[in-house]
Amino acid sequence: TPDAPTASPLLEWYDRHHRDLPWRVSPPMARRGIKADPYHVWLSEVMLQQTTVQAVKPYFANFLAKWPTVTDLANAPSELVMAAWAGLGYYARARNLKKCAEAVASQHDGIFPDTEEGLKALPGIGDYTAAAVAAIAFNRQAAVMDGNVERVISRLYAIATPLPAAKPLMRQKVALLTPADRPGDFAQAMMDLGATICTPKRPACSLCPFNGSCEALSLHDPEQFPVKATK
Ligand code: ADE
Repeated sequence: TPDAPTASPLLEWYDRHHRDLPWRVSPPMARRGIKADPYHVWLSEVMLQQTTVQAVKPYFANFLAKWPTVTDLANAPSELVMAAWAGLGYYARARNLKKCAEAVASQHDGIFPDTEEGLKALPGIGDYTAAAVAAIAFNRQAAVMDGNVERVISRLYAIATPLPAAKPLMRQKVALLTPADRPGDFAQAMMDLGATICTPKRPACSLCPFNGSCEALSLHDPEQFPVKATK
């Protein structure tokens, strides 16, 4: 069996190969500890839930041009928000987006809560979005789990339990691997790795920063993970 994985090779890979995405830009007036504008991170994560990075980019730019702050979005007429969302699909996301913006504006003076718990208390923010905003915007040590991360982690530890039963174990592995100093970069690195290297079919293991510590690779068949439940 290979050496136990650590976050360092992944972070070194991310420093060289990270994708330049518009919501990753540091905020100009960053308060201490703020890595990216929480409004931008939240908006992008909601848009990315059922939509690809390439499709999201123009919508993200258009929303920020129309509504530069979360308070602007809260004060916008719903019809205009729904019209700007048209084409992204899953319109419940747009209605929840508006509700959440209104709650941040009216209950938090337009300032996003900076903890996972505080974020989860907002309408329309679930486990994934709370963890993503806490980690990426506020550098909190939150375990960010999406389909890409599940695939990477299931291969790294050759997790034989099928999804969704394996989720608690996967979350535990991600939490243990998340470094205290760069949790936001770690979360985004795991997503980038899953999207570009550790792909569902024919993963590019020769380019992977984890190729010295991946149990699925040492078993010679990374594609068999994550294991699918048999009906
Ligand atoms: N998919 C969803 N959120 C993402 C992010 N922050 N970076 C890259 N891909 C993503």
